[in-house]
Amino acid sequence: MPLITVIPGDGIGPEVTEQALALLDGLGLDLSFDVLDHVNAGTFLATGCALSDDDLARIRRSDGALLGAIGDARVAGTRYARDVLLRLRFELDLYANYRPAQLLHDRLSPLRDPDRRAIDCVIVRENTEGLYTDIGGALRPGSTAEVAIDTEVSTHLGVSRVIDFALASATRAVCMVDKSNAVPNGGRLWQQCWLDATAARPDLATSHLYVDVAAMRLLSDPTAFDVIVTNNSYGDILSDLAAELAGGLGTSASVNLNPQTGFGLYEPVHGSAPDIAGTDTANPIGAILSAALLLERVGHPAEAAAVRTAVRMAVAEVRCTADLGGRLGTKAAGEAIRAALH
Ligand code: NAI
Ligand code: MG
Repeated sequence: MPLITVIPGDGIGPEVTEQALALLDGLGLDLSFDVLDHVNAGTFLATGCALSDDDLARIRRSDGALLGAIGDARVAGTRYARDVLLRLRFELDLYANYRPAQLLHDRLSPLRDPDRRAIDCVIVRENTEGLYTDIGGALRPGSTAEVAIDTEVSTHLGVSRVIDFALASATRAVCMVDKSNAVPNGGRLWQQCWLDATAARPDLATSHLYVDVAAMRLLSDPTAFDVIVTNNSYGDILSDLAAELAGGLGTSASVNLNPQTGFGLYEPVHGSAPDIAGTDTANPIGAILSAALLLERVGHPAEAAAVRTAVRMAVAEVRCTADLGGRLGTKAAGEAIRAALH
């Protein structure tokens, strides 16, 4: 029986996770859960460590983890997020960040042209290197002569494995996005790995765009894209853009995946939203669609499809939270999706 670790986390994390779990429970599948509800900012403040070695061992024993959100204004700086999110990402080598963006309902699209609203793409973002490795430093910090340096790291292993995963995920087309016209070294490596990998996939339509053009094209015609593969920082930005085109931050789901082990950390794209925490207004759809991604990968694709259909039904009937134009709270919106499912 698949064992799923659950990390509700901070802010709205526990509120949206509760709805995702209620939905999974209601499906009556052979899933069991190990809830780590002490992995949060309170524990970090009290002990200096939110994710212990024992927690990590429990997570390793499971088949996947469902996370709410990590982040709290009381723990400023990046140390807490690094302690939890980046530790999981690096120790479990979750090198592929997979973010689908599928328009939930026509009224949610910000685009004028009705023929171009139906975004249905996936952004595969490299998740372990690039600009976010914290390699760099500052000369003369704090002075008017300061020089600050953040190094962008691309390795042959890192680039080729995420490209391979993107190509394996696609059925139609893959577009590789880089900035090789201005970032020469990493750009050359991405281009070389892309050429090598696509040579073996003549069945797919493959293309390349510079990141600035890709952002423009995503806005002017998102229907032109199927799978996009790109580095850590470009993927961060393009996937938020795609999320906005699909229904907004509250609806966006993701998984941080190691395709070799099959282990995934499933989480909504949004953060802990301290501004609305505890008010029963957070949209639970991002967490629920993340649970659907989990279902797909632990052997329940039919249930995953049914969950997606139920979400679309609830949104179509405006049985949803205020960010999608509805009047329901978090709990009632979760209930509406469960009702649509049955
Ligand atoms: P955020 O995603 O938490 O919130 C941005 C805005 O969107 C806020 O106005 C919020 O109210 C709204 N929002 C977010 N999720 C929503 C939902 N489900 N329903 C309705 N409205 C929603 O991003 P922000 O404010 O930049 O970060 C807050 C905290 O979350 C910070 O500590 C940050 O580090 C952390 N964070 C954690 C992430 C994670 O756990 N993977 C990802 C992003 C941020
Ligand atoms: Mg982001």
